Amino acid sequence: MADQRTEYYRNSENIRPESMERIETREQAQKFVDEQVEALRKQIGDGKVLLALSGGVDSSVVAALLIKAVGQQLTCIHVNHGLMRKGESQMVIDVFEKQLKANLIYVDATDRFLDLLAGVSDPEEKRKIIGGEFIKVFDEEAAKISGVGFLGQGTIYPDILESKDGIKAHHNVGGLPDEVKLELVEPLKLLFKDEVRVVGSCLGLPDEMVNRQPFPGPGLGVRCTGAITRDRLEALREADAIVREEFRNSGLDRKVWQYFAVVPDMKATGVRDGKRAFEWVCIIRAVNTKDAMSATIERIDWELLEKMSYRITHEVKGINRCLYDLTAKPIGTIEFE
Ligand code: XMP
Repeated sequence: MADQRTEYYRNSENIRPESMERIETREQAQKFVDEQVEALRKQIGDGKVLLALSGGVDSSVVAALLIKAVGQQLTCIHVNHGLMRKGESQMVIDVFEKQLKANLIYVDATDRFLDLLAGVSDPEEKRKIIGGEFIKVFDEEAAKISGVGFLGQGTIYPDILESKDGIKAHHNVGGLPDEVKLELVEPLKLLFKDEVRVVGSCLGLPDEMVNRQPFPGPGLGVRCTGAITRDRLEALREADAIVREEFRNSGLDRKVWQYFAVVPDMKATGVRDGKRAFEWVCIIRAVNTKDAMSATIERIDWELLEKMSYRITHEVKGINRCLYDLTAKPIGTIEFE
């Protein structure tokens, strides 16, 4: 794999030319889209392309570009691992299947993932299970489609830079197993994140999709700490939806890098309807960063914090206490696991 990587960086096509303009306006984005559509048609010809579509910004923009370029020659596979946020898979179906008429395979693999994760509390083990099962489900679906020659990927320029500098071993970069014989299609590989968002808007993707906060591959799994149970995962999903809604309503969603709920494997005593209640604790976390390598906490207004705390403890079944995380990175990481 090291050789494959070295080769990847030697290839001048993977180095952003200094003369390349930063894409900031709709006109610049349109020019990029036109150029890429032509290049993609040339590369792919009448071949078939596969794409794992998580609904994140990068894979969504690649999907929209490929749909424009080769339409039904693209098959998108969306794997719902049961650790998605509220409404997320539905949004992928609404946008790509209903609006963009994409060839979309939706796989609800919730039971497969949650059964495998049952009783597993070690964070690294959880990540391995989620990553490994994801590849299995994707491969199973891919095997049902014949004659595929290309694999679309949402690699962006920071992925290339970070892998090159040894900061992150990014799965998108030169990391294909040897037995995979598909040719990569990576139309966003020279773009920075802000440029990808402008291109996504230009392609007609909804605001909510192109301006999404980062969300880890293992999804809510790293925020439902310890051994995941279905009831606690459901409480987390509902609490997270309230945090997102309140951030959107107060306009903080445009200002804060990442904001979310965590429901650890921990209970606290409280009183509900006059009776003793032993229920979960929800932690709200909101951080700002430029590169996710270090992060500061957002100083949220008390009023908003109190509102989220009230709503979560009164609207979400099984949560009776709410805390705000005051930990910067370092010493904490952004995620809890
Ligand atoms: P940490 O928790 O390491 O997170 O401070 C830094 C940034 O990376 C995201 N993150 C992940 N993204 N797969 C991903 O695609 C992962 O396994 C993963 N773990 C963390 C995190 O949300 C933050 O933006």
